[in-house]
Amino acid sequence: MAIATESVREKWSSRWVFILAATGSAVGLGNIWRFPYVTGENGGGAFVLIYLLCVVSVGIPIMMGETLIGRRGRKSPINAMRTLALEEGVSTNWRFLGWLGVVAGFIILSFYSVVAGWSVAYIFYVGGGAFAGTNATASASLFDSFTGSAWRIIGWHSLFMVTTGIIVARGVTGGLEKAVKWLMPALFVLLLVVVVYAMSTGNLGAAVDYLFASDFSELTSKSVLAALGQAFFSLSLGMGAIMIYGSYLSAETSIPRTIGLVALCDTGIAMLAGLAIFPIVFGFGLEPGSGPGLVFVTLTIAFGHMPFGQLFGALFFLLLTVAALTSAISILEPVVAWVVESFRWSRRKASGISALSAWVLGVGSALSFNQWADIRLVGKTFFDWCEFLSTTVMLPLGGLLVAVFVGWRMSKRATAEELGIGEGVLFQTWRVLVQVVAPIGVLLIFGNALVIFLQDINVLD
Ligand code: TRP
Repeated sequence: MAIATESVREKWSSRWVFILAATGSAVGLGNIWRFPYVTGENGGGAFVLIYLLCVVSVGIPIMMGETLIGRRGRKSPINAMRTLALEEGVSTNWRFLGWLGVVAGFIILSFYSVVAGWSVAYIFYVGGGAFAGTNATASASLFDSFTGSAWRIIGWHSLFMVTTGIIVARGVTGGLEKAVKWLMPALFVLLLVVVVYAMSTGNLGAAVDYLFASDFSELTSKSVLAALGQAFFSLSLGMGAIMIYGSYLSAETSIPRTIGLVALCDTGIAMLAGLAIFPIVFGFGLEPGSGPGLVFVTLTIAFGHMPFGQLFGALFFLLLTVAALTSAISILEPVVAWVVESFRWSRRKASGISALSAWVLGVGSALSFNQWADIRLVGKTFFDWCEFLSTTVMLPLGGLLVAVFVGWRMSKRATAEELGIGEGVLFQTWRVLVQVVAPIGVLLIFGNALVIFLQDINVLD
């Protein structure tokens, strides 16, 4: 396949715009929906600690790696990998890393849109007073009956996917920059409001204990794999999203400083979400390990009781929807950029067809909560499998390849040039992390979890 020589090369208008866009990509359902429920499924404190460790020692170094590949390659991930491989004189098979990303992107977008659709619906439910004075049982049963209706959740999924497709079709810089500038800070403030409310009415002590007191006896290697997957998912790593955002980044911007800030915002918001949700979980005697419905069940209880809860609640889900939208865009963007470059389709056509394909896959996820709820493979529904394969397998695998590529395949000079922090301690630390710590960490965690998984299947048989 010929390398596309020209592509739509827009550039961010400033470093801050990149920070906003990357934060917009990173902060989404992963922080507010996924982090709390995965933490709940994996027993709390020890999981959170391992998660933080994964962010710092594997996530941030790989995020810097993805950004520098994107900026140096200046193309969509598959073609950027190919360009850099040629530049460094290594095998162009490295472009398959980009392929892995495109496939992972489709799968993630498909279920992401389903869950984002729930958030859209909840703007109206909460705003319309469906949760006024609610209790734990009523809130949970409303969630169950909502997700139990296939046509309803497919409807909201469709609305969300169409919106994502339209925005990507129009190009990223115009509307998105402006939206992100105002809406992300607003989400942050509203999250703080819920945290304060949850702290004052829920069981704060139990929540803090649960989140930050580490009981390692609870920790299994599956949990460690889940923590790694969550770190990749939350930072938008391993599929080229950050790579393509990096490709729009100007040469003068400092990658380490910029990425550090993005990762800090992302992790901070996940912790805040935990502090908003777990006091309510324990205060109302809910089950932390109840799965994907967790935030929809807990936060709505808070909104059902706090002053102006109807208004704040509707606003909260509105902002969560926007946060999900800025993330969904970043999942679709690398796929579309690649289609445009490779098939020379118009951006509109590429966006439309890509979004439609992800939508079809998403219908499978939507049905997992109703018609297909009993169709399970090794205990997992279609939705569970999409989530597991993409986040827990493909993203860490993609990240591993990024680490090996920047650590071992690119010349030291080239990476040092892009990072722009000289070749001192900071650079050496980064290099050790991508060369040794990240690859070995990912491989160990994978290997271990695979063994457990195989044992599990035998046990089940
Ligand atoms: N990070 C986003 C979130 O936390 C989701 C996301 C956006 C993503 N782009 C991605 C996940 C790319 C993996 C890969 O909600």
